[in-house]
Amino acid sequence: MIDTEALRTQPELTGGHVVLTQLDETYFETAWKALQEPETIRLTGTHTRFTPEQIRTWLAGRTGLDDRADYAIVRKEDRAHVGDLALTDIDKDNRSASFRIALNGPEFFGKGYGTEATRLLLDYAFDVVGLHRVSLEVFDYNPRAQRAYEKAGFVREGLQREALWWDGEWHDVVTMAILKTDPRP
Ligand SMILES: CC(C)(COP(=O)(O)OP(=O)(O)OC[C@H]1O[C@@H](n2cnc3c(N)ncnc32)[C@H](O)[C@@H]1OP(=O)(O)O)[C@@H](O)C(=O)NCCC(=O)NCCS
Repeated sequence: MIDTEALRTQPELTGGHVVLTQLDETYFETAWKALQEPETIRLTGTHTRFTPEQIRTWLAGRTGLDDRADYAIVRKEDRAHVGDLALTDIDKDNRSASFRIALNGPEFFGKGYGTEATRLLLDYAFDVVGLHRVSLEVFDYNPRAQRAYEKAGFVREGLQREALWWDGEWHDVVTMAILKTDPRP
């Protein structure tokens, strides 16, 4: 059984260096700035260009949902907003979900924030919400993300050949997943 109340209320999740807290419209300024970051746009393959109003509305709608969980990643020492991550597409029958993460810019990459946030969210997904499987897609040109996912326990399952058209070229998309019963290093 999925704990839908745990999804609706999204408890704060605290690690050594980052805290995961409900994403909402109070994060608009930093979220909007992050959406303009070319490196993040490339690594997340974001084709859509959003308006500020679309983002405000989207952020305001993140609370109280029971089919997904959207968290802001804040740095523990100063509560600076360093990124977001989410469990999406929660399938209650099969107890599965998709995962996505993006830090707000290159100044936050490579400091361990992504791996720690991913581990915190997986513990919540499996031990609190009651999910059995969490999967993700990552581009072939993003070895940093693939490494961070492996460190958190995701296992490579497959390759979607030429599934992404980016910057005038086709790219493969790697599929990774972790089960509740897999090691969480
Ligand atoms: C992907 C992301 C969440 C990872 O978080 P992070 O905090 O930067 O990653 P971490 O510091 O926890 O770990 C990165 C690991 O990748 C390794 N790494 C960095 N660049 C690498 C490269 N070019 N090739 C292989 N490994 C690399 C680091 O050495 C580190 O591994 P280690 O601890 O074994 O040394 C973050 O970089 C990010 O948001 N990037 C932009 C958006 C994005 O890519 N989102 C994911 C889309 S699927």
